[in-house]
Amino acid sequence: LLLTNAGMVQFKDVFLGADKRSYVRAATSQKCMRVSGKHNDLENVGPSPRHHTFFEMLGNFSFGDYFKREAIDFAWRLLIDELGLDLERMWFTVYTDDDEAERLWIEAGAPPERVLRFGKKDNWWAMGDTGPCGPCSEIHYYWGDLDKQDASGVNVDDEYLEIWNLVFMQYDQKPDGEIVDLPAPSVDTGLGLERMASILQRTDNNYDTDAFLPIMARIQELAGQSDAERAENLYRYRAIADHARACTFLISDGVLPGNESRSYILRMILRRAARFGKLIGFEGPFLAGVADKVIEEMGAHYTDLIGKRDFILQTITAEEERFQRTLSTGLARLDEIMAELKAGGKTELPGEQAFFLWDTFGFPIDLTRDIIEEEGFTVDQAGFDTAMAAQKERSRASVEDKTALDVTVYGRLLNQLQAAGQLPAEGVTHLIYENIAEVDGLVLGLIAEGELVEEANVGTVVELVLPETPFYVESGGQISDTGEIYYFPETMDIPAWTVQVTGMARPVPGLIVHRGTVTSGTVRVSD
Ligand code: ALA
Repeated sequence: LLLTNAGMVQFKDVFLGADKRSYVRAATSQKCMRVSGKHNDLENVGPSPRHHTFFEMLGNFSFGDYFKREAIDFAWRLLIDELGLDLERMWFTVYTDDDEAERLWIEAGAPPERVLRFGKKDNWWAMGDTGPCGPCSEIHYYWGDLDKQDASGVNVDDEYLEIWNLVFMQYDQKPDGEIVDLPAPSVDTGLGLERMASILQRTDNNYDTDAFLPIMARIQELAGQSDAERAENLYRYRAIADHARACTFLISDGVLPGNESRSYILRMILRRAARFGKLIGFEGPFLAGVADKVIEEMGAHYTDLIGKRDFILQTITAEEERFQRTLSTGLARLDEIMAELKAGGKTELPGEQAFFLWDTFGFPIDLTRDIIEEEGFTVDQAGFDTAMAAQKERSRASVEDKTALDVTVYGRLLNQLQAAGQLPAEGVTHLIYENIAEVDGLVLGLIAEGELVEEANVGTVVELVLPETPFYVESGGQISDTGEIYYFPETMDIPAWTVQVTGMARPVPGLIVHRGTVTSGTVRVSD
């Protein structure tokens, strides 16, 4: 998993019996992201009034303690007795052969005709392709005209809103396809906070709840638009509001925009929001203004947002600026490409073209897909993957070439450092087999565009020299480590700067350089 996609993720090992806690029951409110892997709602965000990339999931858990009866009873008591939801609008679903859950709902008070059975697609929950899983029972709330509801709409029509999922965790799905019993039957439930709020606040969508209204209003204010203009651009407003929350929380949790893994997801969401912003008329970076509202609204509870406010806003703006430089040209080029394809009777964007848009204009493929789907196009993902792999191979080869050429500046630096006693005769120390390490000592040297420099700011491609390093340096057919370097001055709990390391080299014996890009802050010699 790249990101926490359900409240149970933190408890996975407890369900599996590999971890123990001092408690056997828990109730939580957790940050969740559904934007990659098995649970991915990205494409729904905007058009759907109910889906988010980032949301808050409430849950209650039993680790081998209570099971179906109590889980159903707790849910009933919260929804009906405490929150006072209207039973006439509620539907309950159980897994196809789960007679027990069906009986328990009826005993709790559900009318039998409102308890429905569904198969694996709807009523079996799994965290990912492997791991804890089991049959589940969902609670749906109908928000349309009272007399128009019907069992056939559940799990089909948007007017039947899934609010809470009770998972009866019983099995562990193994990678080889085998399914084995968990040590003890357990419970994992997930209730969407924003959806619950929409019901209690009697709105037909999450964006009209007090979780989102201030953020939507901030977008409108920044855009200087009338209510009518806002209504015309509703889906874009929603996507921006959603994405601003997601970006704010991803950055506060330590993710920085980049080209791989979680960093890529952040970059993709942020660029998606930037494009929607452009479509509603923003001409420059605006997203930090929206994120600031997110921090203001949510900082009272998620207090770390306040301390990291400047860092979050700067990171967002730097990434947006980076993308603004290529966005318009990239969009124009994409239009041309689509026009050419259409003229040739084609509606599939070749993978190399999608790669070209990424490589040249920084269009994440998910963004490209978004844009072209609006025009009825699809994209050749496999072709894109091939082109991406080929580029990685090329850049690896070119790092090797460059190493042979530019030896002088490195030789000069090494001599200076050794003469000043800043490096021992053996040169830079290699901390072998340490994945993560705190490096002892100062930044000894910075090289940008082949020259020694004193500082390098965001976006600069640099070579960074430290007295010691945990990064493996390519040699003998093995490729270099990649990773990140963070600088934490003593007084700060967020990094003052970050360098994304894309490769390592030993240009002269004794000197090891980290090659990469400054992704936040300004790096200085002696930091
Ligand atoms: N883990 C369950 C879900 O995410 C509750 O729906």
